Amino acid sequence: VKITGPEFNQGAICEPILRSLPDWFGIEEANRQFLLDIENSSTLIAWEDDRPVGFLTIKKHSTYSAEVAVTGVLPEYHRRGIGTQLIAAAEAYLRSQGIEYLQVKTLGPSHPDPYYNRTRAFYEKVGFRPLEEFSQIWNAENPCLIMIKRV
Ligand SMILES: CC(C)(COP(=O)(O)OP(=O)(O)OC[C@H]1O[C@@H](n2cnc3c(N)ncnc32)[C@H](O)[C@@H]1OP(=O)(O)O)[C@@H](O)C(=O)NCCC(=O)NCCS
Repeated sequence: VKITGPEFNQGAICEPILRSLPDWFGIEEANRQFLLDIENSSTLIAWEDDRPVGFLTIKKHSTYSAEVAVTGVLPEYHRRGIGTQLIAAAEAYLRSQGIEYLQVKTLGPSHPDPYYNRTRAFYEKVGFRPLEEFSQIWNAENPCLIMIKRV
């Protein structure tokens, strides 16, 4: 696939991808926030020919650190290396900006959800490491794991 961006205002392109993943993005209130983040932050798009098949949104937090705010790949395109390509493109961009650390917040391992179990496996494979699980950031039902990697 070809990766373009990062660019702002990518909400319309990414919304169908977000909506194709209800097992991960099933809370409407959270989805609205994700779409605002996609629209207002730097977003990379993965294209197969003219079809957008994946995206990754980056938020910068300081001179040294940034966050993967949200990412997703169409389900029929999973396990083809597209998520890995998006992370690599994000890291190349962040390095060019002098960023040293990249974090991601995801559902923690104390929650039994099988889908986020796979998400954590993906992040570990691309080099993120679990830093700490918090029950206070989201809520007791949704423990938040912060993962981090040096870019
Ligand atoms: C997470 C996601 C973006 C990964 O994209 P992807 O293109 O499928 O990932 P890749 O093909 O680059 O996977 C790289 C490696 O990660 C690991 N991995 C990825 N998906 C996995 C799964 N479902 N189960 C176990 N390991 C997995 C594997 O080691 C994989 O390498 P392999 O296929 O050679 O074994 C994609 O699965 C997705 O859209 N998930 C739903 C949304 C989500 O979880 N978003 C993140 C939370 S904001």
